[in-house]
Amino acid sequence: MIKKCLFPVAGYGTRFLPATKSMPKEMLPIVNKPLVQYGVEEAIAAGMRTCAMVTGRGKRTITDHFDISYELEHQISGSGKEAALASIRDVLEKGVFASVRQREMKGLGHAILTGEPLIGNEPFGVLLSDDLCLNDGPGVLTQMAALYEQFQCSIVAIQEVPKEDTHKYGVIAGEAIAEGVYRVSDMVEKPAPADAPSNLAIIGRYILTPDIFDILRNTEPGANGEIQITDALQTQAEEGRVIAYQFAGRRFDCGSVPGFVEATNFVYDNYYLQK
Ligand code: UTP
Repeated sequence: MIKKCLFPVAGYGTRFLPATKSMPKEMLPIVNKPLVQYGVEEAIAAGMRTCAMVTGRGKRTITDHFDISYELEHQISGSGKEAALASIRDVLEKGVFASVRQREMKGLGHAILTGEPLIGNEPFGVLLSDDLCLNDGPGVLTQMAALYEQFQCSIVAIQEVPKEDTHKYGVIAGEAIAEGVYRVSDMVEKPAPADAPSNLAIIGRYILTPDIFDILRNTEPGANGEIQITDALQTQAEEGRVIAYQFAGRRFDCGSVPGFVEATNFVYDNYYLQK
């Protein structure tokens, strides 16, 4: 069973400036819940109750969110407003929260390596909360944890994207071994459409085996001068140790303004109004 999930939440969120000048992108709400809470709920539902946050300067409100707010809670105690805290109270009851700071933003691979002391020598989930995944059945990390039980190697979530969008993602090549399941042979970070090995793009959900830390330590900066998790995973893929999985559910790119607006409308129509 996978018990821990890493949340790299140190990025600058420049696409949302000026909103993200002093507020973390991960605290932007989709209707009335911050993005990062959706992610934490998905991880806890998958049994990953230890949430390891890789934060940075200016991100304190994230750690505050996963703690009690004594004055506020005292003030509304016993009133009808208390019900609005039910989801975060549930998360606090079930989850354990730890954090470490990434001092320099050297990329997602570097952020994951920064989280090593919180993870140790065990397989773990990674969830990028700006990819919001919604599904009426089991969440994406739950689906991936089940696959890990079968394959015991790193798993990446993938989705078909339009060919002209491959430069925004890590893209895989692989052999289909079951419906929606691929044994990865190659992966490229942010390829131009002409160089992309497929239109199967990695989105922000991973299960990683802990040998990834040693690989990351020896991974040189790649695309955009950042240490890329895709480059480290390529080393595992060459040994046949990466599975790509086309998950069930819908994913919204909330790191971009159009994706964020789309998610907001979707959650408002399909979840908020249905309550
Ligand atoms: P992004 O590149 O999408 O996030 O990184 P960003 O840099 O915050 O956004 P923009 O492009 O400036 O708008 C993907 C994820 O990896 C984390 C980010 O917080 C985000 O969740 N990340 C990225 C880190 O934690 N550290 C890094 O050095 C880079």
